[in-house]
Amino acid sequence: MERKISLSGIKPTGTPHLGNYLGLIKPGLELAQTYKALYFIADYHGLTTVRDGKEFERMTYDVAAVWLALGMNPEEVIFFRQSDVPELFELTWILACFTAKGLLNRAHAYKAAVDINVKAERDPDEGINAGLYTYPVLMAADILLYGSHIVPVGEDQRQHIEITRDIAMAFNNNYGEILVIPEAFIQPSVATIPGIDGRKMSKSYDNVIPIFAPASQVRKRVMGIVTDSRPPEQPKNPDEDNIFNIYRHFALPEEVEAMRQKYLRGGFGYGEVKQELFNVLERNFDAARNRYEAFSKDRAYLEKMLLDGAERARAMGAPLMRKVRKAVGVRFNR
Ligand code: TRP
Repeated sequence: MERKISLSGIKPTGTPHLGNYLGLIKPGLELAQTYKALYFIADYHGLTTVRDGKEFERMTYDVAAVWLALGMNPEEVIFFRQSDVPELFELTWILACFTAKGLLNRAHAYKAAVDINVKAERDPDEGINAGLYTYPVLMAADILLYGSHIVPVGEDQRQHIEITRDIAMAFNNNYGEILVIPEAFIQPSVATIPGIDGRKMSKSYDNVIPIFAPASQVRKRVMGIVTDSRPPEQPKNPDEDNIFNIYRHFALPEEVEAMRQKYLRGGFGYGEVKQELFNVLERNFDAARNRYEAFSKDRAYLEKMLLDGAERARAMGAPLMRKVRKAVGVRFNR
């Protein structure tokens, strides 16, 4: 039987952290065992905010190096750069003509930017580019071009998948069942991995633990995790503790259980568990960090992999584009 398709996009906007790993990279790679996986670097989405071309290029290759280092097999996963697929724009425009403008007015990222302006008593659209506004349409095209069935993403992307579904249904209502209606695939338990200050781990809170920073820096972040001030001898509730709530994702099941018991007994210091967390992180990522450094230096290889991926992705999108063009009545001779 044909495998179903899992697709996701990653914006090239900075060093990956443990939350990115648990939220997308790990589940994405697991899904690649049972789905046909297409993962891509969403550089055109990144362009709504990044303005330094050289740095942007570096960050794009960085995403590829990260995924390879963490175990992605490019034979198995079709991994590519969004900007290498020109058909995407054809589809983006066609879909834009089926997108209610009000739908985009209600998109969270746009609304948040407007709210900031309104609070500051500026023009509501000040500093907002049309790329940010139409971001959800480009994302819908990303998903619909390849007939994706599931889209592994973080909770923050749920609305974008809803918008994609709305657009696809509007199109299908007019032309028949041409587009596959995708489903969001959201990991519930990892939505809650805390950052070092106890809030959700997120770059915007500056509370992340990076995966590939030098060991000394990772250690410093781990030692900075916020804990309560209970004395060492007192029992502690592991489920309310930030160190434990990070540890449990990376240690072996029997280690997690032993750690849980240790919390319930009490009689230990937080410094000691932080060190254990650091050790477990090193065990998980030390070899990957070396691979990451090697891949980062080999742009020729990264470029070759990305172009090969784009070729395979374009071949997958081509039949759908033919159907779509024919249905709407444009370029129907190709
Ligand atoms: N908007 C997504 C994010 O910010 C990135 C993205 C772009 C994406 N296109 C996509 C995710 C298609 C899933 C599917 O994380």
